Amino acid sequence: MSGLTLHLPDVAATRRLGRTLGRLLQPGDVLGLDGPLGAGKTSLVQGLARGLGVPARVPVTSPTFTLLCEYQGRMPLYHADLYRLREAAELGELGLWEAAEAGGVLVVEWLARFPEAAPPERLQIELAFPPSGPGRQAHLTGRGRRAAELLQALALLL
Ligand SMILES: Nc1ncnc2c1ncn2[C@@H]1O[C@H](COP(=O)(O)OP(=O)(O)OP(=O)(O)O)[C@@H](O)[C@H]1O
Ligand SMILES: [Mg+2]
Repeated sequence: MSGLTLHLPDVAATRRLGRTLGRLLQPGDVLGLDGPLGAGKTSLVQGLARGLGVPARVPVTSPTFTLLCEYQGRMPLYHADLYRLREAAELGELGLWEAAEAGGVLVVEWLARFPEAAPPERLQIELAFPPSGPGRQAHLTGRGRRAAELLQALALLL
């Protein structure tokens, strides 16, 4: 399992990381996005959407209440937020994994709340507040061959 740690000095850097990654994504890719409240998960997805070709006029907001949002770019982007999901059984009703398998990209905030349900093959991104100072830290790990390839390609662009 390969890993990459980055410092993101401001929200623009978070969005830029998302955009760079978004350009590399292919149908079926799954991303887990974790970290405490306000760590920048949704900001990263905003960049991701742009990198996937979702037009700038389309607002990308937190799906905290709707649980799942869909955007149309080069391919569909499914953005889920499991913060308010009570139990793993409800995940089935959301149809997340099917959406990715059908040719979309799936990004899931708070996936780590349901580790037993998480697909083993995914790019996992942890966002954190640094121990001191401004900005955020991002730690990316590739689980599975495709995710490891994605991470290598990303590292070359940063
Ligand atoms: N690298 C960064 N440095 C400083 N501020 C940042 C950075 N990235 C994002 N932010 C800011 O952090 C705040 C929270 O961002 P965001 O809503 O994306 O977090 P989140 O992890 O999705 O939160 P939640 O857990 O509530 O869903 C926003 O004001 C955003 O501008
Ligand atoms: Mg969020």
